[in-house]
Amino acid sequence: MKNRTWIKGLAALCASAAVACGGGAGPQGGVAVYLDESQPIEKRVEDALSRMTLEEKVAILHAQSKFSSAGVPRLGIPEVWCTDGPHGIRPEVLWDEWNQAGWTNDSCTAFPALTCLAATWNPEMSALYGKSIGEEARYREKDILLGPGVNIYRTPLNGRNFEYMGEDPYLSSRMVVPYIEEVQKNGVAVCVKHFALNNQEAHRHGVNVVVDDRALYEIYLPAFKAAVEEGGAWAVMGAYNKYKGEHCCHNRYLLNDILKRDWAFDGVVVSDWGGTHDTKQAAENGLDMEFGSWTDGLSWGASNAYDNYHLAAPYLDMLRKGEASMATLDDKARRVLRLIFRTAMNTRKPFGSLNSPEHLTAARRIAGEGIVLLKNEGGVLPIDLGRAKTIAVVGENAVKMMTVGGGSSSLKVRHEYTPLEGIRAAAAGKAEVIYERGYVGDVTGDYNGVKTGQDLSESRSEAQLIADAVAAARKADAVIFVGGLNKSNHQDCEGDDRLQYGLPYAQDKVIGALAEANPNLAVVIVSGNAVAMPWIGRVPAVLEAWFSGSEAGNALADVVFGAVNPSGKLPFTFPVRLEDNSAHALGEYPGGDTVTYNESIFVGYRWHDKERLEPLFAFGHGLSYTTFAVGNVKADRTTLASKGSIRISADVTNTGDRAGAEVVQLYIGDEQSSLPRPVKELKGFRKIALDPGQTQTVTFEITPDMLRYYDDAKGAWVAEPGAFTAYVGVASDDIRGTVGFELK
Ligand code: BGC
Repeated sequence: MKNRTWIKGLAALCASAAVACGGGAGPQGGVAVYLDESQPIEKRVEDALSRMTLEEKVAILHAQSKFSSAGVPRLGIPEVWCTDGPHGIRPEVLWDEWNQAGWTNDSCTAFPALTCLAATWNPEMSALYGKSIGEEARYREKDILLGPGVNIYRTPLNGRNFEYMGEDPYLSSRMVVPYIEEVQKNGVAVCVKHFALNNQEAHRHGVNVVVDDRALYEIYLPAFKAAVEEGGAWAVMGAYNKYKGEHCCHNRYLLNDILKRDWAFDGVVVSDWGGTHDTKQAAENGLDMEFGSWTDGLSWGASNAYDNYHLAAPYLDMLRKGEASMATLDDKARRVLRLIFRTAMNTRKPFGSLNSPEHLTAARRIAGEGIVLLKNEGGVLPIDLGRAKTIAVVGENAVKMMTVGGGSSSLKVRHEYTPLEGIRAAAAGKAEVIYERGYVGDVTGDYNGVKTGQDLSESRSEAQLIADAVAAARKADAVIFVGGLNKSNHQDCEGDDRLQYGLPYAQDKVIGALAEANPNLAVVIVSGNAVAMPWIGRVPAVLEAWFSGSEAGNALADVVFGAVNPSGKLPFTFPVRLEDNSAHALGEYPGGDTVTYNESIFVGYRWHDKERLEPLFAFGHGLSYTTFAVGNVKADRTTLASKGSIRISADVTNTGDRAGAEVVQLYIGDEQSSLPRPVKELKGFRKIALDPGQTQTVTFEITPDMLRYYDDAKGAWVAEPGAFTAYVGVASDDIRGTVGFELK
């Protein structure tokens, strides 16, 4: 690490003082072009490339350790250091192993999971997130942040949904762009993952996804496209699974044709760790950097494990024999050099910061804005600390740390405020808070050597735990149950999918018993996924609190006691039953060697709308402690010319008695179309903060390109003339006004 800093310092010196520096000297002894930051980046890339040997070009294309790749030491071109991603900066791991290295300076701020960020429906929160995590990555001297993830939420069973931004391509596109822009301002590349069609963990290393072109282009690709074309992402990670029979890390359709040709991506394609399987395909099909292939340091020998990577000795061999193209090698090396100039060799980047008060405040703010008030009858929430004297908190998730576990996004934090801590801190001096466990889920707390240090051992029987929880609830003025999923295997965790849609660990029984014991019950679900709620009719208040990082407990307390008025909206549908989800109703899941997306474009609310299937909670749903009226929906014209635009407006009024924010959502439906289309699709949204009594007019501009579908027969996007309907509402199932128009 020290050596790296020195190399960077040297590059800065050479560039700024225009001195001759060893391998970096130019022909006249002046500063070499590639070291001169005043030169255009492409010129520097060509200059560096022209100085590199064949071996040096190959050496920068694969890992040299678990998370780093070699630079060109002779030329002072530094190594590239990657880190997970996407919710905080992963602790340092050993050179050749997943286990943490045991550093004592690598605790980070854990930001809320990306589902929570998406639930803010606020691109400003995305920018704040990107800025904050980018600063942490920079401080930790990382060049590539392995995230964000934008795989579409296809089934509630996917163990990694918590790392993604929900079921809608428009929402995830709008949310991913500011994250990327702000991270990269720190001279840290994002690595948008997992490209593409990585929508389940089951069979993730081999499953071949069969999907029609409409669903591919309309549902699964748009967020990646926005990340590349609008966000300007400097790196993209290939997915583990296959598409058209080829692994996505070296997939000619996805990488060469779509990403690099159609979207003109000029960055680096990074393999997922262990996602590279074939040297010829890796050489030809768009992969630029290979990581994680055989790095246990054991089976392939610690000494030469990295030489055995596909893009190492085997590739070099092909090149030497003339079996691989030198031009393609140069293209890969150029991309890596470009990335290095943008990141590791960018001496003008800021210095970053770690665990700053600003980052903790950002984490709390994003978490507070992302929490979704799903149900609130009889004003159970917010809990009034002037009236409630005894508050019973029940549930393992009230005390369990959630930043450790879940797979590669696992973190090491200085401190994680659990819900119980947050609630106790907020109620201190005002109410007594009593705690009961209620159920026992997973008592372990260790991920790759990072330990929570929590002792969650418990010896009471299920019946006793419930009886004790009920007794506490009877004594209390208000009861808060905190449960949901956790970051253990088969929950919200990488590597496997969930085994059931229902809550695990007999939580349904606990909730049922609490509902009988005390009507003042709020259920808080901590998860990154939808769950079944068979008790919904008996519970007056429900919050979806997500995995929300270092400040989880404080953010939850902010909402529970009303310091923050909830304004989060669901980024995916909660079906009543698993069979109501289209992947399960129609499609195939989990498949085996292949999985076929028979549901095509009818994912999430698009399916519920089509089937008129009432969800438990709809996409876009989320309540507030105040109320809003949305009305006066109108269009400034009735026809839209092929090059014109149309403005849709609506008035939103805070009709309650506290300040709050509403997300006004615009959906559009195509009334006459040659191909089947969803009833409506999200095409705009705006979060509006209003004081009581205040009204604001929201406007959305619709252009013909927003009305297009992907015509798979033509292989092109088509905006078909005819009648359309604009729907304006506050959830996909709560439309407050519509207006028709015609595309000419
Ligand atoms: C995950 C990636 C992650 C990588 C490195 C893989 O198992 O799929 O998302 O970035 O490991 O930890």
